[in-house]
This record gives sequence, structure tokens and C-alpha cells, in this order.
Amino acid sequence: MWRLSIVLLAGSVAASPIPVPSESNGDLEPRAIQCSIPNVLSLSYTARKLAITAKQATFLYADGIGGGPHSPGGVGGITLIAADSAISDSELALQVANEASDVAAATLSIPKYNGLKTLDDYARLYDGGLWKNSLAPTGLYPGMITNYTQDLLFSMERLSFDPYAVRRLFPDKDQLPFAVDDVIVQDVTGAESLQKLFESGFLFYADHRDQGSLEHTEHFAAACDAYFFISESSKNFLPLAIRTNVGSNLIYTPHDEDNDWLLAKMMFNVNDFFFGQFHHLAATHYVFETGYLGGKRTLSEDHPVLVIMDRLRYGALGIRPLAVVVLFREGGSIDQFFGYKGSSAAEFAAKLYSNGYAGDVQNNYFLTNLRRRGLIDSPIGLPLKHFPFYEDALVNYNAIHDFMTDFVNSYYTSDSAIAGDPELQSWLLEANGPAGSINFPTKETMKTRAQLVDLLTHMAHLVSSSHHAVNTNQLITGAGSLPFNPSALYQPIPTEKGGITNLAPFLPPPSQCVQMILNQANFARPLIAGTSRTMVHMFDDPVTLGRLNKKTKDANERFMAAMRAQSAVIKARTFDENGLSQGMPFVWQALDPDVMPFSLTI
Ligand SMILES: *[C@@H]1O[C@H](CO)[C@@H](O)[C@H](O)[C@H]1NC(C)=O
Ligand SMILES: [Fe+2]
Repeated sequence: MWRLSIVLLAGSVAASPIPVPSESNGDLEPRAIQCSIPNVLSLSYTARKLAITAKQATFLYADGIGGGPHSPGGVGGITLIAADSAISDSELALQVANEASDVAAATLSIPKYNGLKTLDDYARLYDGGLWKNSLAPTGLYPGMITNYTQDLLFSMERLSFDPYAVRRLFPDKDQLPFAVDDVIVQDVTGAESLQKLFESGFLFYADHRDQGSLEHTEHFAAACDAYFFISESSKNFLPLAIRTNVGSNLIYTPHDEDNDWLLAKMMFNVNDFFFGQFHHLAATHYVFETGYLGGKRTLSEDHPVLVIMDRLRYGALGIRPLAVVVLFREGGSIDQFFGYKGSSAAEFAAKLYSNGYAGDVQNNYFLTNLRRRGLIDSPIGLPLKHFPFYEDALVNYNAIHDFMTDFVNSYYTSDSAIAGDPELQSWLLEANGPAGSINFPTKETMKTRAQLVDLLTHMAHLVSSSHHAVNTNQLITGAGSLPFNPSALYQPIPTEKGGITNLAPFLPPPSQCVQMILNQANFARPLIAGTSRTMVHMFDDPVTLGRLNKKTKDANERFMAAMRAQSAVIKARTFDENGLSQGMPFVWQALDPDVMPFSLTI
């Protein structure tokens, strides 16, 4: 049903190029007036206040579409959703049209793959330019097919395209979640025991046990938790053990037979992929939307901060309605391709929002979040030798931070101007109150311009690096790629080890493979690469910049230069003499600012 409607959509706009942001930025009534922060002493202040009150009467809160925190309501809110849906739906339709020849070619090729009887047959699903439109411009990440059996590839996935689950265990506040035989620990890690590894700060953990209580589809998934460690000798970040938490609750390690251990890693991947996708919905979409809604209701349309937030919102409000139709509904793509049902996925995302794990604002600032999980600046153990998500996102983050610093300082000439801006102050109250943001700054935690810079930088980080590291092009190019990263298993979780001669039956059968890859392709936006929809152009919009001051325009020039320079770095990335890139046996290019979109239209 949804495919039909998308095909119809595709038919209507297939010929048009990616919409130019400045022509369709979803503003209700684009304004030419120069932005300013409110001046309570000026004659026009009363009129400005009245305009905000009038806006509030039409811009309301409604139940979250598809669950989770509020969506916009009222005539004003619904108009914005419609404007954003027009953007996100048309980008999807363009991608569906772009995929059509890939789907036809892939369907025709299935018989060539020996009926998909072995894992190697699955690896050939991307052979010879198949999916070339959907996979452009990077293709499947080099190494994903050739190197997927390596433990280092498995563990480094956690530090690149699925970086929000793993954490270091801290002996002063954590306990060991499960035991592993010391003989195995010694052999795999070189450390004396699991306890020693833990005490010295070399042990890491990812916990997906909470998926065990979700409602299953007709496919299969475990609810794995897993240990990782830093090797004292190689300094590599590697897997130590995976526990299934279902059936006979087996604990797998690299000491098991090859097929058992490979299957364990695939079982973990199923859970981590599910987590990554529904965590992203809460941590990026929900958090940005609620922060935005609070601002939209309290900041004047002439406030520079709202103008920036409106730019960052480009198309974003169209996603939740689309997710209901495509993903969450009974029989939608989650029911079809995941181990847990769409309805549970929606609840899972809502819970990750409301319990703060994904929903907290300040606690999830880029560096704060990584520090809390012991992934950077750890007081114990060794630092991670390579952390690709951090390395790449940091460059984008710093460029955003520089831009926001110049922007904020150009409008607020002192820290006291923050407390002196009644609109900004009412945003803080609104966000922490009716808007439903969690852990949003308050007047106590936003006293300085630097703190406003941090908040705005975070919002821009959420709609860019944070999102596109796990979603968008990531599904088809890596995080959902077969054979190693399936979204569900097609055989029951084993209750004993040994005797598995072939893992192919655990993967989707030929009839479902093309549909599964196609579903991932629907999230990709290769047509955006190199256009004015990329991260390079995050602020580069004539309508937006036209209303902002010269210092902000100059800051945008510097931002664009920094992003272009980083794009060149990422585009040049290849394997080094050890067959590694950023310490990984695959080449990861997700956060290329000239490829990734600047907003949340997926
Ligand atoms: C990973 O795969 C590529 C080929 O795709 C190869 O050149 C490289 O050496 C491999 N890396 C390792 C560590 O095996
Ligand atoms: Fe998304």
C-alpha cells in the first residue's frame, strides 16, 4: 500500500530536480525585515509582543504523530507540517524514481546468485554496479563485503555508524553484567580476568536486553548484551562476548566455532541496528522538534535565533507523518523487515525520549554524551585509539560552533543581554514546560552567550552529524548491508552451540532480499550530494542570510570553507598500508559535508 502511494508520488515529480531550499523553505510568509533581538524600550516592542501572542493562538501543541512528544497543532502548526511534508515527500519521491532501475536490475539478477545458498552469495547482491543509483556516491563501504568476518570490523561499527549504545564500564559505579570464563578472557584479551579488565577501565558494554520485552514479528531477534575491550597489546577496540538473553541465554565468544561466533555478531547487529534506528528518531527528530516548537511559540518571527531554527527545521516536520504511514503501521516496513513490530518500535522510541537517554538536551550535548559514556576523556583505562564518529562529527561540530559563536556574539553584545531578552527567556520556560523538552537549559543554566551557542550548536548537530551518522545513506551503504548487518533473522535463535554449517538460512530469502534493500534505499538521499541541500549549505540560504547581519554572513563564508575542506578530506579517504581506514577495515564516509543533508528530511 505505501509503496503504491510512493510510486504515485514519484510519478508526479520524477522530472524535477532536488528542490532548491531557498525557494521552498516552508516559511508561512517569508519576511524581508531585518532580524533583531527584542528591545523592550523601543516603540515597536508592543507590536512585536502582540504578534507573538497572535502567533501562539494558532500555533498549538498536538499529540505526537506516531507517539512520542508533541507535534505542532492548530492552523499554524498544521500549515508548517504541510509545508515540510511537501519537501520531505518530494525528496523521497525523487529517490524512489532514482531507485526504479536498480530494483528492476536487482530483481532480474537474483537467479544469478545461486538461490542465495551461502553468505558469499549474499555478498554478491551488490555486485557489478547493482544498486548503483541508490548507493551513489560512495557505494557500499569498501571492506564491508571483503572484511565482514573480522572482529575489528564488528567492533568498529559501534564507533562509527552505530555510536549511541556502547559505553565504558566504570568500576566505581557499574557492576559486571555477566561473567565470562577467565581462561577465555585471558586468551582473547591478554588480561588476567574479566574483573581485572573491568577494574582497569578497559571493559566496554552495550546493552539491548530491553528489546526482549518487545512484540515479535514473524522474524527472529535476540536481545543481546555484549562486552568489548581495549587490547593492551594492540590498543584495538575489540569484541569479547555476546549474550543472547533469549532461549537458553547462550554466551558466545571468539573461542566458539567460526559460524557460532559470526552468528552471534549478526544477532547483536540485529539488535544494535534496531536500537540505532529508533534511538535516532527520539534523539534527533523528537528532541529537535520539541525544542523548535517551544521556540516557534515564544520567539518573534523577526528574532535571529528563530530564523536560524527555521532554517535548521527545513522539511523536518514532514517526517513523523511519513513514519506512521511507511514504518510504524501494521504491515509497514518495520513489521516486514525487523524482528520487532512497528508498534513496539514506536513505543521504544517514545520511551528512549521520555526516560532521557535520548530525550535529554544538555546531557546529550555532543561531547557531554561521549564523555559520560567514557568514550572520550576517560579518567580510567586507555583512550580509544580510533573513534571515527567522534573524529568526523567533531570537525562539523567545531565549524557549527564557530558559526554560532559569531552569530550569537553579533546579536548579543554581552552575557547580560541573554537575561535581558524576554523572548529568549520565555523560550526556556516554554521548552521546559508545555513544549515537553527534557533537560533543556533554564535561566540558571543559560546565563551566558557561550551557553546559548552550545544550545544552538547542539540543535544544528542533531539535524546533521548526529542524524546522518546512523540514518540516511547509512542503511544501504553499511548499517543494514547484507550479509553481516541484517535487520532481522529468518531462523529461530539457536538454543545450543555447534553444528551450524551454513548461516544463509538466517538471512532473508531471495524473494525478500530485494525488498529489504529497497526499503533501505528509500532512506538514502544520494541525489542531494553536491547540491545546495548539503551540510555545506546549512546556513547558506539567501532568504535566511538576507535577514541576518554582516557578521553572520561572514561567519557563513568561513563555515562553508571549513565544510568544503572537510569534504575533501573525507572524499580522499582510502585504506592505508594495513588495509584500514580510521583504524577500521572499512572506509566510512557518511559525514562528508558535501554529501550529507543539512536537515532532517528522512
Ligand atoms: C579490507 O578490504 C579491502 C578490500 O576491500 C582490502 O584492501 C583491505 O586490505 C582489507 N583490510 C583488512 C584489514 O583486511
Ligand atoms: Fe530520521
